[in-house]
Amino acid sequence: MVWSCKFFSSPITQYTRKQTEPIMRIPPPLLFPLSLLLLLLLLLLPTSHSSSSSNGEDLIDQTCKLTPFYDLCQSSLRSSPSSSSSDLRGLAQIMAGSVLDGANRTLGQIQQLLDRSSPADPAADQPLAYCAELYIPVVKYSLPQAIDALSKGRLGFAVYGITDTMNEAGDCNKKISSGDGSSSPVSDGNMLVMDLAAVALSIIKVLQKSL
Ligand SMILES: *[C@@H]1O[C@H](CO)[C@@H](O)[C@H](O)[C@H]1NC(C)=O
Repeated sequence: MVWSCKFFSSPITQYTRKQTEPIMRIPPPLLFPLSLLLLLLLLLLPTSHSSSSSNGEDLIDQTCKLTPFYDLCQSSLRSSPSSSSSDLRGLAQIMAGSVLDGANRTLGQIQQLLDRSSPADPAADQPLAYCAELYIPVVKYSLPQAIDALSKGRLGFAVYGITDTMNEAGDCNKKISSGDGSSSPVSDGNMLVMDLAAVALSIIKVLQKSL
């Protein structure tokens, strides 16, 4: 403490140091850091207070600020009519629903592309078939189970299912883009699923910390 105070030797502390009164008092080297701390507290308190209370900011704003994709979080949550009256767990459920919606749509795109390719083009179909195999269990099991787990407060299980979704979308993307490197609608879908999953996971993390 005293050692670090050498960096703060201002005229004020030098002045008080010369007064050698024997009465008990705060040692001058401590005085300056203390006042600095007080000043910092005074500066920080009003702003932290206004951002945590209802200053035109609702739970959705506050929650989305804690996620890596603020705009995506906002648009996903606000597209659900029930979000305005939801608590944090409800928002996590809505977000997990958005992940399911995105994954289902991406699977739909993959299946459309597979259906369209006739005569079959094995070189183009193989990565698509691989992706369909990854997405089907995600849409059928992992995400519905994660949403169900959220409603029961089994957050760890929900994290598991959504993390799995993220990994499968990433796997599909590697397979799709390992060809000519051009972006495809499926690749856009994969990226969206991964971003939505990242938002859902960070909301669940806030939920886990608040318990
Ligand atoms: C996925 O989308 C299809 C339509 O493409 C729909 O019939 C089905 O109910 C959806 N599944 C889920 C789990 O949302």
